[in-house]
Order: sequence, then C-alpha cells, then structure tokens
Amino acid sequence: MDAAIRYESVIKRFGEQVVLDGVDLAIERGRITFILGKSGTGKSVLIKHAIGLLRPDEGRVLIDDEDITRLPDRDLRRVRIKFGLLFQDAALFDSMSVFENVAFPLVEHRRLRPDRIAEVVRAKLGQVGLEGVENKYPAELSGGMRKRVGLARALALDPEILLYDEPTTGLDPLMVEQINALIADTQARQRGTSVVISHDIPSAFVLADRVAVLAGGRVAACGTPEEVRASEHPFVREFLAAGLSERLRPGQ
Ligand SMILES: Nc1ncnc2c1ncn2[C@@H]1O[C@H](COP(=O)(O)OP(=O)(O)O)[C@@H](O)[C@H]1O
Ligand SMILES: [Mg+2]
Repeated sequence: MDAAIRYESVIKRFGEQVVLDGVDLAIERGRITFILGKSGTGKSVLIKHAIGLLRPDEGRVLIDDEDITRLPDRDLRRVRIKFGLLFQDAALFDSMSVFENVAFPLVEHRRLRPDRIAEVVRAKLGQVGLEGVENKYPAELSGGMRKRVGLARALALDPEILLYDEPTTGLDPLMVEQINALIADTQARQRGTSVVISHDIPSAFVLADRVAVLAGGRVAACGTPEEVRASEHPFVREFLAAGLSERLRPGQ
C-alpha cells in the first residue's frame, strides 16, 4: 500500500501507563481514514507521533517512507509542513483577527507579498464557506465558524496530509453535518490524505474510505467501513453497537 503515514510496532508509555502497545497501522495516501476509539485510548497520542510532537519508546513512524522516529527537531520542521492540523478547540489565537489567524502560517513559512497573502487568506476562507469575517475576532464567532477558521488556517500551506482531531465533538447535529460535508469537500479538492480522529461512528461510516479502531493500545480492526463493520473482535463489535445506537437516542 502507498502509505502517507506508517506506524510500525509503536509503543508509547507515560510512566507506568502503556498508551500505545504495539500499533501497526498504514494510512493510505489520497484517502480519508477515520481512527475511532473510546476517549482516553490514545488517539491524540497516536497523531502526535505523526508530526513528531511525541516520539515512540519503541517502534518506528514513517512519513512518506521517511523514518522520522529519531529525526532531529530542526529536520522535523520540513516534515511538519506537510501537515495541516485542526484541533478539537480549533486552537485559534484569540488576540488575532480571523485574517491574522489564517495568514499566520503563511507569514511564518512563506515569503509572500502582503497582497498575495491576502489573496490566499480570502481563497482559504472562501473554501470553508466563510466570507466577510476577516476582521472579526475568534470570541465573536460561533463554535462552527471557529472550526471553519481553524480549517482555513490548516489549509493555508496546501498540506499533503490533513489531521482532524475530533472535529465534530461538542457540536450540535446540524453543525456535525456541515463540518462532515466540509471534510468531504476538502478531501475532494485537495486530493491529499485526511486522517480524522473521532468517536462519531455514524460519521465514520459515511465519510471514511478506511477505518481503524484503536483499543487497548492496539489497532483492533482496520479496513474499509464494511470490513470493520464485519469485524469479529469483541471490543469492536461492542464499540460499534454502542456508538451506532447513540445517535438514535431521543433528543440527539
Ligand atoms: N503528555 C502526556 N503525558 C502523560 N500522559 C499523557 C500525555 N498525553 C496523553 N497522556 C495520557 O495518554 C492517554 C491517552 O490520551 P489521548 O491520546 O489524549 O486519548 P484520546 O484517545 O482521548 O485522544 C490518557 O490516559 C492521557 O492521560
Ligand atoms: Mg484526543
């Protein structure tokens, strides 16, 4: 498989706690992969290894077939620039306007003239369906709008790989649909690789090309949504059953 990200027998401990206990996973290039798992199972820890924010105690992490496991920090910059990150809370800079937030990576990493920066910022905001909010501040925006600004910022450098960490957690159902549509639309336009960390099982089965379920520090199931749905792994069956019924609860 042509893998954008490859985890090989990755073990990560924090003190006594073994969070990743031999993760083997290949994230296929050009596709949307959902990584599912209960809260606290190590999903965020896993993606932090892809950008070198955390390093494995054992095993290897490869990005575009390059082993980054022991890459010095100064070389990680070159690797990180391949990634666009959208964190759960959007992680916007509150003291900066929407424009400045989206322009930030361009100012940091590209030598562009101000008018060119403005052009890119407008294009990225347009791509996520935001217009006329450039001069607003994050505190003036709704949760869904902040998320869009975060996505526009993540897209600023045209990343090859987009990492979404719980993009829809805490949003109302209508907003979940909108963000999901945006993830699908972004994937179709960028034709890159998208990795979505989530515990939203229904969304995963609609959007994903591939699904990996993390449990007990390992990949309990991995494959197409159909393959994962057919998994015999007891944890996976229980996890999917619980997650699929959640949406059917009254008031959801
Ligand atoms: N930097 C850290 N230091 C110590 N423990 C951590 C650190 N990061 C995460 N953990 C622990 O690792 C476990 C998995 O965390 P995380 O990856 O954030 O879970 P989730 O699947 O909800 O994203 C949790 O028990 C968390 O407390
Ligand atoms: Mg997390």
